[in-house]
Amino acid sequence: MSITIKSADHIAGMRLACRLAPEVLDYIAPPIPPGITTQEIDRPAAECMALQGTVSATVGYQPPGYPPYPASLCTSVNHVVCHGIPNEKPLKKGDIVNVDVTVITQDGWYGDNSRMYLIGEGSIAAKRLCALTFDAMWLGIQQVKPGNHLGDIGHAIQKFAEGHGFSVVREFCGHGIGQKFHEEPQILHYGRPGTLDELQPGMIFTIEPMINAGRREVKEFGNDGWTIVTKDHSLSAQWEHTVLVTETGYEVLTLSAGSPPLPSFVKATKT
Ligand code: MF3
Ligand code: CO
Ligand code: CO
Repeated sequence: MSITIKSADHIAGMRLACRLAPEVLDYIAPPIPPGITTQEIDRPAAECMALQGTVSATVGYQPPGYPPYPASLCTSVNHVVCHGIPNEKPLKKGDIVNVDVTVITQDGWYGDNSRMYLIGEGSIAAKRLCALTFDAMWLGIQQVKPGNHLGDIGHAIQKFAEGHGFSVVREFCGHGIGQKFHEEPQILHYGRPGTLDELQPGMIFTIEPMINAGRREVKEFGNDGWTIVTKDHSLSAQWEHTVLVTETGYEVLTLSAGSPPLPSFVKATKT
């Protein structure tokens, strides 16, 4: 197996999937008020996908060794790192939640993205973690250009996150994406410059750093087979975009009207 290079037709299919995925997040327009449950986020998302004519990639998703995933999206609250399952517990003021949406278009293309939401005001520490994780994702994106290596992406993210006293989750990573949810390559959010595969135009993958306020270690939570939490119970944040390697740099495919403003160091969503 190797990294697929997408043709112009494939890229057109991916552009549509990646335009629709963030529309589902836009539909869950912030602010998310305290008192709402994560199931009450899942429901409108499913409704939006039905209106789009897309299908959630996560409903029934079952990699080897996992139970089928039961919801239209993932909602990872506070110390949940990823793959949180929507439930009936009301969100409280000060919670942070990652909402991760992956849609499949009628032509079979996948678009994958996630954002952080603050419930109510949010503590200074929580706001800082969310904001710096967003910046970390964009620093990774800015490393995307032909000739650079996958290790350059991971290194940029790791150096920045650790430089701010945070840690980078190692057990979960970004991934190639196309007519499958998760394909090669793995996109590690840590690493050394110049290592791993060289980037080539036509590659499409996600960059989705999971950054912990405390230690990097994670563990499974409970017995749902999915939920991953920080071992030390520290807060964890994540943002995700799907990105195309172009002849000259990158093009972020999962942008929409509701995407948050770019960090000041980012001049373009397409280079
Ligand atoms: N959307 C997640 C990712 O970014 C994967 C979620 S798999 C699920 O790769 F089954 F937990 F939903
Ligand atoms: Co992903
Ligand atoms: Co995702």
